[in-house]
Amino acid sequence: MRSVQNKHIAGRLHVCITFCGIYEKDFGTEYCVALLIVSFKLKQSRNKMVAGRLALVTGAASGIGKATCRLLAHKGATLVAADRNPEGIAHLIKELNMTAHGDQKHTGVSIDVSDDESVRNALLKVLEHHNQPPSIIINNAGITRDNFLLSLSETDFDDVLSVNLKGTFLVTQTFCNSIVNHGIKIASVVNLASIIGKYGNMGQSNYAASKAGVEALTKTTAKELGRLGIRCNAVLPGFVDTPMTQAVPDKVKNKFMPLIPMGRFASPEEIAEVIAFLASEKSSYVNGASIDVTGGF
Ligand SMILES: NC(=O)c1ccc[n+]([C@@H]2O[C@H](COP(=O)([O-])OP(=O)(O)OC[C@H]3O[C@@H](n4cnc5c(N)ncnc54)[C@H](O)[C@@H]3O)[C@@H](O)[C@H]2O)c1
Repeated sequence: MRSVQNKHIAGRLHVCITFCGIYEKDFGTEYCVALLIVSFKLKQSRNKMVAGRLALVTGAASGIGKATCRLLAHKGATLVAADRNPEGIAHLIKELNMTAHGDQKHTGVSIDVSDDESVRNALLKVLEHHNQPPSIIINNAGITRDNFLLSLSETDFDDVLSVNLKGTFLVTQTFCNSIVNHGIKIASVVNLASIIGKYGNMGQSNYAASKAGVEALTKTTAKELGRLGIRCNAVLPGFVDTPMTQAVPDKVKNKFMPLIPMGRFASPEEIAEVIAFLASEKSSYVNGASIDVTGGF
């Protein structure tokens, strides 16, 4: 994969130098040096992509997680797609491996992010397959159990906090310990929070609290792990067209639509683009940030 990229860049440099030869006559040496610098920067920018890196995505069998796996794989990363839905994962891995190139060999792993033992087993499986932990961790698995506060059961409160908040903590702690133990010096954790964690929402006290917690966890992780080369950032989507929101009644969706200046929900692919940016070294100095992706909501 790397040699293919280097050939690509070498090709561009060749074209650039040939160009310089032609242009030197008309525009002089300074112009040619500027062209060479641009070409060098192009090469640097390609090196900041995710190609050749191992990436873990939780909640990979659906919605934003699936779109993120597809995008990262397209950009040359090797994926570990993790979910508690094994059929969904098997299906996705088959699809990803059909279009894999170079060293890419995508794998799936069964995980319940809210269960410590399951998370540790997932790490062992990843190490068995890939001999190293992922240097990109996308904490995307999440659930809703909506109800008005006065009627919300303790179980529904606990379940949402367990998956969304505790799950993010368990995966981050387990995989980042392994990253440190393997001496990996560049890593990125991206957590899926939500704009609801900032503003609250009727019927989602459990979900809003969990996502506010994810944002706070993100900022603290960034402070603690930044010196180890591990960045941690949060993405705060507004409303995204996935199975999670497809369960929301139309009359509720219609209430929100006028509040979104873009006049539509996001596609999962639009969220995946921001996740991929934060995962890559293109965001090498972004740490502890929360990025709203809400269409202006
Ligand atoms: N869809 C939206 O509008 C929206 C908005 C803001 C934030 N988010 C967040 O983005 C993330 C992805 O949401 P989505 O809309 O793609 O949801 P989705 O329901 O389409 O997919 C969620 C995935 O997580 C998996 N999952 C659930 N519990 C799990 C567990 N305990 N262990 C492992 N996997 C588990 C599910 O099997 C599913 O594949 C979630 O964290 C969600 O809270 C979504």
